Parts: sequence; C-alpha cells; structure tokens
Amino acid sequence: MTDVLTPVLTNNWGDERSWTLEAYEAQGGYGALTKALAMAPGDVITAVKDSGLRGRGGAGFPTGMKWSFIPQDNPKPKYLVVNADESEPGTCKDMPLMMATPHTLVEGVIISSYAIRAHTAFIYIRGEVLHVIRRVQAAVTEAYAAGHLGKDIHGTGYDLDVVVHAGAGAYICGEETALLEGLEGRRGQPRLRPPFPAVAGLYASPTVINNVESIASVPSIIEHGAEWFASMGTEKSKGYGIFSLSGHVKTPGQYEAPLGITLRELIDLAGGMRDGHELKFWTPGGSSTPLLTKEHLDVPLDFEGVGAAGSMLGTRALQLFDETTCVLRAVLRWTEFYKHESCGKCTPCREGTWWLVQTLAALEKGQGSESDLELLLDQCDNILGRSFCALADGATSPISSSIQYFRDEYLAHLTHGGCPFDPAASTLFAAEGASA
Ligand SMILES: Cc1cc2nc3c(=O)[nH]c(=O)nc-3n(C[C@H](O)[C@H](O)[C@H](O)COP(=O)(O)O)c2cc1C
Ligand code: SF4
Repeated sequence: MTDVLTPVLTNNWGDERSWTLEAYEAQGGYGALTKALAMAPGDVITAVKDSGLRGRGGAGFPTGMKWSFIPQDNPKPKYLVVNADESEPGTCKDMPLMMATPHTLVEGVIISSYAIRAHTAFIYIRGEVLHVIRRVQAAVTEAYAAGHLGKDIHGTGYDLDVVVHAGAGAYICGEETALLEGLEGRRGQPRLRPPFPAVAGLYASPTVINNVESIASVPSIIEHGAEWFASMGTEKSKGYGIFSLSGHVKTPGQYEAPLGITLRELIDLAGGMRDGHELKFWTPGGSSTPLLTKEHLDVPLDFEGVGAAGSMLGTRALQLFDETTCVLRAVLRWTEFYKHESCGKCTPCREGTWWLVQTLAALEKGQGSESDLELLLDQCDNILGRSFCALADGATSPISSSIQYFRDEYLAHLTHGGCPFDPAASTLFAAEGASA
C-alpha cells in the first residue's frame, strides 16, 4: 500500500492456506526457533528486553522485563500463559492473527517458554470462537508432528508441551489473574496482588502472562535482531503493532504500522471516512480508553502520545464514529456491556455499573435534568480507582470523556425530550432505529 505500513505479523495473511505449517515454513517459519535454541535462555530475554517490546494486551508493560521477574532459583515449574481472550469491544487483532498465521504464535510460545525455562505453556482462548480454537489446536498438533514441540525439541534436549484451553466466555477472564482462576477451574474473578503471577501465578508457580500479539512478535525479534525492532516506532514505544480500524471508515481492517503513526494517516490508508461524512469521535484502544475527537487526529499513536492526549493506547482498537452517531447512545451500549461483564466481586463495580446504566438510560430518553450529568460524574468518581480491577475503571472512561467533549449533546437530549439523532441515518444503529 504505502511505505507507512510495516507488515511483519500480517505479511503472510493473504497467502494460500497461510495457516498451515507448510506455508509458514515456506516463508522461513521456525527459523527463529532454531536460532533461539542455539542461544542461552537468558540471552533470549536480553534480546527481547533490548528490542523495547512492550505488552500488546493494553497496559504496555515491557515484555523482556516481565520475563526477567521469573525467579529461576524457585524449584517450582514455570509456566507461560498466552492471553487470547480478546473481548474488549472494538479489539479484533488477536483472533485474525490466530486464524491467518497461528504458527507465528506457536513459534513465539516455544521461544518465550524456552527463555523463561518453562516446560508447559497454555494458550487461553475465548470459548465462543470455536473456529479459532480449532485452528490453533491444529497448528499445535502440526508443530508436535514436526518436532517443534514435545520432547527434545530440534534435538536440543529442551521439552515443551502446549495446552490450548477454551475459556467459558467472560470479558473479565481477559484480566490476567481472573484468567488464571479460570484456567485452574474456578470462577473467573481477579486475585489480590501481591503475590504477582511472576512469583505465584498458575498453580501458585512462577508464571508469565502475555498477550497473543506480544508473543507473536518474538520470532521476528529473534530473527531480525533487537535493533531492527527498535529502529521502528518512537523513543519509548518501539516496534510495530496491529491497528484495528472499525466503524464509519471506508475500508475497515487491520493495518500494521510503527507505533507513533497518527489516526489521520491510518484513515488515509483506509480510504477515508464513508462518503459525505466526517469523524466525530473515536476510541484509541477499545471502549475502555477515553474517547478522543477530530482534534486528536494528529496525536502520535504510541503509549506516551495517547497518554498525553488524555487517553490510552490500549489495544489499538480504533473505533471510528461519524457525525450521524449519538455519542450518548454509543456510550450507553458500552456501559451496558460493562455492567453485564462485571464479575460482582467488589461493590463499587457491581453496584456502580448498574447505577451508571440507570442514569445514562434516563438521560438518553431525555428524562432528568442537567444535574444528572454531575450525578453521573460523581458515580464515575466513586468507581474509578475504588474498584478491585481495571474493568470498572474502563467502564467510567467513555462516560467521563464523552461528557468532557460532548456535554452539549447530553443537554440536547434533555431539551429535545429524547435522542435528537435520527438513528436511521447511522449504519451502526440502523437496525435498532428500525425497531424503535
Ligand atoms: C477486564 C480486563 C480484560 C482484559 N482482557 C485482555 C485480553 O482479552 N487480552 C489481553 O491480552 N489482555 C487483557 N487484559 C490485560 C491483561 O490483564 C494483561 O495485562 C495482559 O494479558 C498482559 O499481556 P501483555 O503484557 O503482553 O500486554 C485485560 C485486562 C482487564 C482488566
Ligand atoms: S472491578 Fe468489577 S470486574 Fe473487577 S473485581 Fe470488581 S466487580 Fe469484578
């Protein structure tokens, strides 16, 4: 397309039967594994540290540093757990990666497990996506048959087993400690920390939990070197990442580019907003990251740039909404999601998300008064930072940011006695508009 894109993870997605071992090996697949197995495990960790790779699951924690926290003097087994739950509204990068080139992930799992000296790894996939589970399981089976997994991998004496685990389908199970609870067969609710998973994670043993894209980036770092990876991106946000564009854009999809690219550039690559319409608001990293507007088109999409603009890079799930969209209705939808997905462990989130929905739903119908906006912000204030995990913090983000940027639109619902938008004009809400 243009030289702005850096297709590495997505480079072979269009190849004939790209998900097979044959197609992956034809592109040099598992070459990085051979290289890694010739290195000392500690040197693999150093390479990932030097590359500057930061977790692609949302928080951006340095991956190599996380691995170095695994206490090697602890006699217990070490585990690698891949977080393939991907349930954040708008986030849709890990599933396509696992469908198109699952061996990139499997190769990454083997190299990463070798680095932290784990002999068992788990890939925890959201239960609803049976097609993805089957595809990853098939890739794992192929890797065993080819000697990339199992006993004495490549004749090096290193053993590794990989278990593909189907989750039961709950957004909270993407939170790493709730995921561990689920993996151990319990109800998926977050754990109190400390102890951190690096010290006492799965089965109370040292555990690394990483996102699919983080682990899938490892083979390319080993193959091309830490410097190559660090030459892309920005000073503190190195490398490339998958940017998922969805919503009112002409060509939605996955755009792999260096961190620091702007939304303006990405919209350009995606052919622009749909004809005759303009951008109104967008999420930089899924619905739990504060909304931004067209004023932020030139914000560098890296951890620092988006943070400085008052939001978070999150999972680079760029959901774009044009001027036909009622921001209040979109925010209500997301809030209903968070209320539904609250695991119920702590009161501010369990009760608070319920109250957020009540207050927002009334405002959306044009009921209440201007003081309800302050009530809504007060409810957010009583949830943010006062809950057990980040699910609840995320639930407040779209509300407080939409009031910050679109207070007038909230008020217009009150003066209009309901939604001032014609839902039929919006492709996103057309179905609901028809039945209303
Ligand atoms: C409610 C909630 C849901 C999450 N869902 C996911 C998810 O689906 N995938 C993911 O990789 N991380 C998710 N995370 C972040 C994980 O807790 C964790 O930070 C991440 O898996 C670490 O991987 P990384 O360092 O490679 O980014 C979620 C966090 C929260 C609070
Ligand atoms: S913040 Fe919500 S999802 Fe997280 S532990 Fe509390 S109730 Fe559960």
